[in-house]
Amino acid sequence: METGPSRTAMAAAVMRGRHRLEDAPPPVFDDPFALDLVGPVWRRFAARGDASRGKAARRELTGGILVRSRYAEDRLALGGQRQYVILGAGLDTFGWRHADPGGALRVFEVDHPDTQGWKRERALAAGLAPPPAVVEVPVDFEVSTLREGLDAAGFAWEQPAFFSWLGVTMYLTLGAVEATLRTVSECAAGSEVVFTYGRADQHLDAVGREVGATLSEAVARVGEPLRTRFSRDEAEALVRRCGLGVAEHPDRDELVARYFAAREDGLRPYTAEGLIAARA
Ligand SMILES: C[S@@+](CC[C@H](N)C(=O)[O-])C[C@H]1O[C@@H](n2cnc3c(N)ncnc32)[C@H](O)[C@@H]1O
Repeated sequence: METGPSRTAMAAAVMRGRHRLEDAPPPVFDDPFALDLVGPVWRRFAARGDASRGKAARRELTGGILVRSRYAEDRLALGGQRQYVILGAGLDTFGWRHADPGGALRVFEVDHPDTQGWKRERALAAGLAPPPAVVEVPVDFEVSTLREGLDAAGFAWEQPAFFSWLGVTMYLTLGAVEATLRTVSECAAGSEVVFTYGRADQHLDAVGREVGATLSEAVARVGEPLRTRFSRDEAEALVRRCGLGVAEHPDRDELVARYFAAREDGLRPYTAEGLIAARA
């Protein structure tokens, strides 16, 4: 990310927010706060996104954005860890959707300071009080390490943690991706990370290629160029060389069967982003 708050984080939040407005229930992922958090400018994001790609590509991009959040939060619920670290949180609203002031789950939102500052201002403007369980951890993955950020935030290294890292690795250099995964591998046994990665072109179907091409042009224009891409095998090799084990690596068909089977509205994940769960 080159400068200012993340535009891609806003675009992803707009897709999550529109889902509950525009698609028939049940939602794949329900986010009642997303559009308020983005603010009235969400309509401009929506119009620009709609104009820039065909209908199938729009539906699959939305499906991918929804399913990565749903999948991560499902795995968090299954894992039962008491620390949830949201890496590159963007406009993630977990803290508001799961407001549980006396609860046992501590939530760390790690993000670029520019995006965090903007989110704080937007939350204030939208009348959303800071969620009590959430600790902000300002980290630029290219400049400082996740370990330094978590140390300063009071993270308990001796306790297992769940990390989500959704829609972020593709914007980072390989060195920053590896350093962050290595930090996760140094966490207590039972820790897990769910992350997404950009898929290499030769593994995409036609809609995936359209999404990949329109996304890479759009994100470069807003100063967030795509930097890393992997095949399925390369993603698993990355996980292993960073000291983690592959827990689950669902392909698109598995995600469709799990989350989209009953839908007839064209929603399903695109092939240009892979989703993997890895364990310490
Ligand atoms: C596409 S958004 C995804 C946001 C959120 N995870 C979601 O799924 O909606 C990318 C996020 O990565 C963050 N990011 C990009 N480069 C970063 C960097 N070098 N250090 C920290 N965060 C970064 C941005 O601030 C933004 O929040």
